[in-house]
Amino acid sequence: MSVLLTGGTGMVGHNIKEHQNASNYCVLSPSRKELDLTNRDQIRSYLKANTPEYIIHAAGLVGGIHANIANPSKFLLENLEIGCNLISEAARIGVKNIINLGSSCMYPKNGPNPLKEEYLLNGLLEPTNEGYAIAKIAAQRLCDYLRIEDNSRNYITLMPCNLYGKYDNYNPKRSHLIASIIVKLHEAKINKDKSVEIWGDGSVRREFMYAKDFADAVWFALPRIKEMPHIINIGRGEDYSIFDYYKKISDILGFEGTFTFDLRKPTGMKQKLLDVKKINDLGWYPMHDLELGIKKTYAHYLDCHR
Ligand SMILES: NC(=O)c1ccc[n+]([C@@H]2O[C@H](COP(=O)([O-])OP(=O)(O)OC[C@H]3O[C@@H](n4cnc5c(N)ncnc54)[C@H](OP(=O)(O)O)[C@@H]3O)[C@@H](O)[C@H]2O)c1
Repeated sequence: MSVLLTGGTGMVGHNIKEHQNASNYCVLSPSRKELDLTNRDQIRSYLKANTPEYIIHAAGLVGGIHANIANPSKFLLENLEIGCNLISEAARIGVKNIINLGSSCMYPKNGPNPLKEEYLLNGLLEPTNEGYAIAKIAAQRLCDYLRIEDNSRNYITLMPCNLYGKYDNYNPKRSHLIASIIVKLHEAKINKDKSVEIWGDGSVRREFMYAKDFADAVWFALPRIKEMPHIINIGRGEDYSIFDYYKKISDILGFEGTFTFDLRKPTGMKQKLLDVKKINDLGWYPMHDLELGIKKTYAHYLDCHR
């Protein structure tokens, strides 16, 4: 059975490709050069030529808080194009199975935690990533509408919490929290810096999962796609404060300095913890706790930066 995986060069896509279950399928993973998802004609020709039975849609313009604040229009437009082009062309050509990737950013900023799937579109979005979130919500709704219009279409959206791990992006302009903490603390340790600055007061809470575990959830969902809820959270069901992450990563990396807090910097939503009851009830749980995930990620970082 053939599976088209978009975003195969990204952190999530790489982990999906590397997972042991990928070898049970013929996974097509075109690069952006081979298939630019902002180009509808290219998508149409690619799908006609390859007729995949499944699509795992893991491509998108992704970035941390700095990048989202600096370019909200780009995050909205590119993700809207990528998601809507791919999903609508897949429906047109008759692809029956799509796993679309959402994000916890799509939930309302004041939604009660843990965030349940039904809270989507029940309130205002967090302004620091609103453009990105609107585009991701549009792709999720498009999957839903197309499924309602033709119930032979199994189009579902997995809603991951924040992810980190092997193949993470360590570019300071685009990195997410865990990757940026690893770089900051690694460099501070090498330079023998006495202290490291944290954005905000460190009290904001985030849920992070090792990307290999998320890849495992994708391969868990794929053969069960007909029975899966059309939207389902994927996370660890526990979160930590930003300061907790700094302390935990300092212990693992061996940084012995102190921390200062820049209270003028933006910090985003106060908490974004997912309710993971639905996926747990189906029998899926992640395998890596924070310590194991960070140790493996740091080992990979050292391998790539020696
Ligand atoms: N990382 C997280 O914490 C997180 C959390 C929740 C949800 N997600 C979702 O997971 C998905 C992947 O995220 P990621 O962290 O793996 O991001 P990433 O590392 O930045 O990878 C993004 C992927 O999308 C591809 N891409 C971007 N624009 C494209 C285009 N126009 N045509 C074709 N491919 C394009 C990139 O190709 P190039 O290599 O050519 O740029 C890359 O392969 C996204 O949908 C994101 O919303 C991620």
